[in-house]
Amino acid sequence: MKKIITIFGATGNLMYKKLFPALSNLFKNKFLDIKTKIYLVGRKDYTLEDYLLEAKKEIKTNIEWDLLLPHLNYIQMDFSSLDDYKRLKTIINEDESLKDKMFYLAVPPQLFPVIAKGINSSGLITKGSENERIVFEKPFGEDLTTAQKINKELWQYFEEKQIYRIDHYLGKEMIQNILIVRFTNTIFEQAWNNKTISSIQIVAKETEGVLRRGNYYDKVGALKDMVQSHLLQMVSLVTMEKPKTFSSDDIKDEKVKVIKQLSIDKEDIILGQYQGYQDSINIESGSTTETFVFAKACINNERWKGVPIYLLTGKSLDEKKSEIIINFKNDSNNFKNVLNNKLIIRVAPVEGVNFIFNVKEAGLSEKVVPANLDYCHTCNYLGNTPEAYEKLLLDLFNKQNSLFTRWDEIESSWKIIDEVKTYKHELFIYNNYEEIKELIIKRNEVLIDDL
Ligand code: BG6
Repeated sequence: MKKIITIFGATGNLMYKKLFPALSNLFKNKFLDIKTKIYLVGRKDYTLEDYLLEAKKEIKTNIEWDLLLPHLNYIQMDFSSLDDYKRLKTIINEDESLKDKMFYLAVPPQLFPVIAKGINSSGLITKGSENERIVFEKPFGEDLTTAQKINKELWQYFEEKQIYRIDHYLGKEMIQNILIVRFTNTIFEQAWNNKTISSIQIVAKETEGVLRRGNYYDKVGALKDMVQSHLLQMVSLVTMEKPKTFSSDDIKDEKVKVIKQLSIDKEDIILGQYQGYQDSINIESGSTTETFVFAKACINNERWKGVPIYLLTGKSLDEKKSEIIINFKNDSNNFKNVLNNKLIIRVAPVEGVNFIFNVKEAGLSEKVVPANLDYCHTCNYLGNTPEAYEKLLLDLFNKQNSLFTRWDEIESSWKIIDEVKTYKHELFIYNNYEEIKELIIKRNEVLIDDL
């Protein structure tokens, strides 16, 4: 069946940074059929040539243009004009063959209802049709109320199985690996609780600032941009109970359960903004948008009572790194210098798992020293492991929705963020990561290494 993907927001950062490279690799590796068509929709009045000229200025990665070009079409549209959706429908339906149609909304959430309505009213998607799907980028809404409103509207137009809500972290190799590491290794499964684990750290640090995304980012900030989605997804996978089966719905049921038991400690939140943020393009002067969040969460259930879960994310920090650190307790009083065991799931840029344990120093010394069992995930794969968006786009083409978020996951995470937003916090202006680290350590009276 001929597959057609229409992407709204084709002149946006996501298209250039993530979707083009992912589509290019999918064609290169022959995962997409040569009959596949890609309609790029934007508000600007471009020809395909004009569009590509602009796109090539923005795209920094290597794209196989020769492979991609035969599939591309650019369409200018006014997102609020029903006639334009009808015109799009005529173009898509040009030939009579049976088609598999996907509509990807890489646009801010405020536009979701407008575009979804246009797609529905013009008959581009018929409710319940198996071969018609719609994809929404994150953030899904601006808070709980707007997300609920959007979702209610979407359910009028589409069935849940036609709706794909993206959180690209779920497409990352090592995020897909969390449940495997936890539930297929007895050594970890048995130890995965508050008797053995002292704390958990969920970290997503970035070196880049807001770049040219000020328009979007200044209204959102790190809590809504990163914590509501990526960080809480990581928390839920790390802390959920074992699901009844490993089916998509059973896993999501457990993720939702644990997120509903999570609360963020009001006293321990640190919000920061990097020095220079306000000079970036499209940022309001005097903006109080946070570009950094540190928070201490806890999960009120038998397994996790008493285990702090530290969340840390921010822009313009010392390194690009996403990882999950499980710190184990240390009950050994018999030796000096014993370090706590630590399991590190490295999500990006390095993908792998490290386990830190104690050994005797080699030679005549009796000193206890740390050793590192180092599993490199990428090294076991010929070529590069697929980027998150490659996996998610391919799943979308293949009607696989297990790595997309279900509505109740989004709803429960917005509840947490909305609550945090009601607390009043001072905004800490940081020049560098060291300043933040000092503050965290001072406030928490504990030394959290590896932060
Ligand atoms: C996106 C956020 O969802 O994730 C960006 O909107 C952020 O602000 C990005 O930079 C980080 O993703 P990754 O895959 O680079 O860690």
